[in-house]
Order: sequence, then C-alpha cells, then structure tokens
Amino acid sequence: MTEMNLTEENKKHEYQTERSSAAPKSFRIAGTGSCVPSRVVTNDDLTVFLDTSDEWIRSRSGIEQRHICTTETTSDLAIQAARNALENADASPDEIDMILCATISGEYICPSMAALVQRELGAQCPCMDLSAACTGWIYLMDTAAAFFARGGIRKMLIIGAEAMSRIVNWHDRSTAVLFGDGAGAAVLEPGDQYLASSFVTAGGDEVIAIPTKNGISPWLEKEEKLPLVFMDGQETYKFAVSNLPKRVDEVLAKAGLREEDLDWVVPHQANKRIIDSASRRLKGVPADHFCVNLQKYGNTSAASIPLVLDEWNRAGKFQRGDLIVMVAFGGGLSSAACLVCW
Ligand code: ACO
Repeated sequence: MTEMNLTEENKKHEYQTERSSAAPKSFRIAGTGSCVPSRVVTNDDLTVFLDTSDEWIRSRSGIEQRHICTTETTSDLAIQAARNALENADASPDEIDMILCATISGEYICPSMAALVQRELGAQCPCMDLSAACTGWIYLMDTAAAFFARGGIRKMLIIGAEAMSRIVNWHDRSTAVLFGDGAGAAVLEPGDQYLASSFVTAGGDEVIAIPTKNGISPWLEKEEKLPLVFMDGQETYKFAVSNLPKRVDEVLAKAGLREEDLDWVVPHQANKRIIDSASRRLKGVPADHFCVNLQKYGNTSAASIPLVLDEWNRAGKFQRGDLIVMVAFGGGLSSAACLVCW
C-alpha cells in the first residue's frame, strides 16, 4: 500500500512491530456469537426425496435435524453471528482491527466473506478468508494467535460461516443427510488464553473434494466435474477416529498437561460415532465433557466448533480458567487441535 492511499482511518491499522515484553502473547476470547437459518429440515423431511430414514441417519451419525438456508446467504449468517459476538463482547465495529472468515461455501470467491461482513458492520480494517473446510476454525484461531503475537491488534473478529446446502449433492444420500448451514463467531482481544496447537494435512483430493466450475475458456480440454461435495465416508471416518485423539494428545504434550487436566473437549460436529470413539480413546476426559450439539445442526463445516462454543458460553458452562481443547478434521484431508485456557 502506498502512503498516498493511506487515510487517517486506515493508518491506525498499520501493525506495530515494536512490543513490550510484558505485552500479552496471544489472545483471549472476549465474546462469541452464532446464527443459523430459520428453516429446520428434519430427517423425515429428507425421506420425501431421498431413499433414507430417520433411523438410519440417527444411528449412523446422531443427526436429528439441520438448519437450511432458504432466503439467507452465507454472508447473512456470518454478519448476524458477528453482530451477536460483538454484542456479547461489548465491542463496537470501529474497535475491530482485522476480520478473518473461514468458509468453503460463500456466495463469492471474490470479494471475501470477511470484506462483505466488514461493509455491513461498518468496520474499517484488513479482511481475508481462509479455506480449510471443517478444520477452518482451528486455522482461524492459530492465524489470529500469530497476528496477536506480532502486536498492534486491539480486537479481531473471527467467523466460521457455511451454507453447505449450496454445495451438497442433494441426490447423494450418503452425503446429503450429514450437512447443515450456520455461522459462529468470536471477538478476540490481547490475552494469554491460547496455549498450543497442532496441525496435520494428508493432502490429496481422493477422499473429500469439492471441485469448482471449469469456466468458459475456449481452450480448456478438461471434463467438468460436479461442483458439489464428494466424500468417501468410510475413509473420512477412519481418518477422523485415528487423528482426533492424536491431535488432542499432541496439544496436551506441548502444554505439558495430561488428559485429566482438561475441562472440555469441543470437537468438530460431524458424527456422534466419531466423537464417541474419540471419547473412548481419551479416557481421562469424562464423556459428558465432550460438547455436542450436532443433533440440532448436522455438520456445518467451519461453523461447527464456534456454534458449540457459543452455545456453551451463553449457557455459562465454561468457567474462567477452564482448559478447553478444540479439535477438528475434514477436507484436505486435514486435522488440527488447539488448547485454550478460558
Ligand atoms: N440412508 C440409508 N442408507 C444409506 C445412506 C442413507 N442416508 N447413506 C448410505 N447408505 C447405505 C449405503 O448405500 C450402504 O448400503 P449397502 O451396504 O447396501 O451398500 C450402507 O448404508 C452402509 O454405508 P456405509 O457408507 O458403510 O455407512 P457407514 O456406517 O460408514 O456410515 C457415514 C456412513 C455416516 C457417512 C460415515 O462413514 C461417516 O460419518 N463418515 C465420516 C463423514 C464425515 O465426518 N465427514 C466430515 C468431513 S466433510 C468435509 O470436510 C467437507
């Protein structure tokens, strides 16, 4: 950016590089928010056009219903979740120095979802999106931690927002029944809550893929793939059950903690059987300390962890000082975890 383009308003967002050693090294979560579309679609509703049943979906995934967009866009959900988080944090848009969004189902590739949110909120700050499918929330947290470590950020807004209904193949019963729409957000401010993180990406598009459209290049000689979710459910399942507990163990080891020290595990809300399997492996954490709300929302990809966080936060279940692991897996194939002290 040239000096000529810098307004007084933008100048305040230039990062400080000099920091005092007493300054907080990461962030604290000052507030959370969420939003789901109003239309509820039950498992029975799906049986009208899919060869499936409420019993199959409940027993294989734990999902009972999901919220699906009718008139809402992905960014509508993101904007409302952001407003709710700002209110919860008692913060105003002009205090926000950066907006980061994780999404794979926005209505635009450009502009970013973060830029759309910024305009609606009336904030003025750098904005960008990141794409990491269901592990998007953990990437947001880690990216945010890096920016806070660099210094100069007063408050940051992070948002996971998805309208998976835009990209689900509604003719494919093995995937369509699993996903839902929603958004979750958090306002972060300087603090020392973020303790450790761990990331693994296997790579490849064989197990989970969502192609984009080919476009209209007259020179392209490639077959068009459906721009919809493809997932090998069993391979994803195997990846998830082996990787979730490993990531939790890794962040605990990095922080010098044991399973017994953990107060809560906030897992990606994809499948209750996957969460139960992780719970059996992580014997030191009581099963009811795994936060679960997937029965109401299905798999909302990058929105799933912040939807649970907001529900537990507003219900007053997290106490100051609670040690919480957030852990996810998904497209990439990727898996990641982070540890925060509430
Ligand atoms: N209703 C009824 N029957 C179905 C349905 C359905 N909705 N879907 C599949 N079936 C059938 C299959 O056709 C198969 O029938 P067959 O034995 O006659 O061939 C049978 O049910 C069993 O199918 P499986 O795929 O073996 O079922 P499984 O027990 O593995 O459960 C599931 C499938 C729920 C998809 C599971 O594999 C799973 O949860 N995987 C992980 C998915 C996940 O968590 N994804 C998250 C990441 S997604 C992302 O990042 C975008």
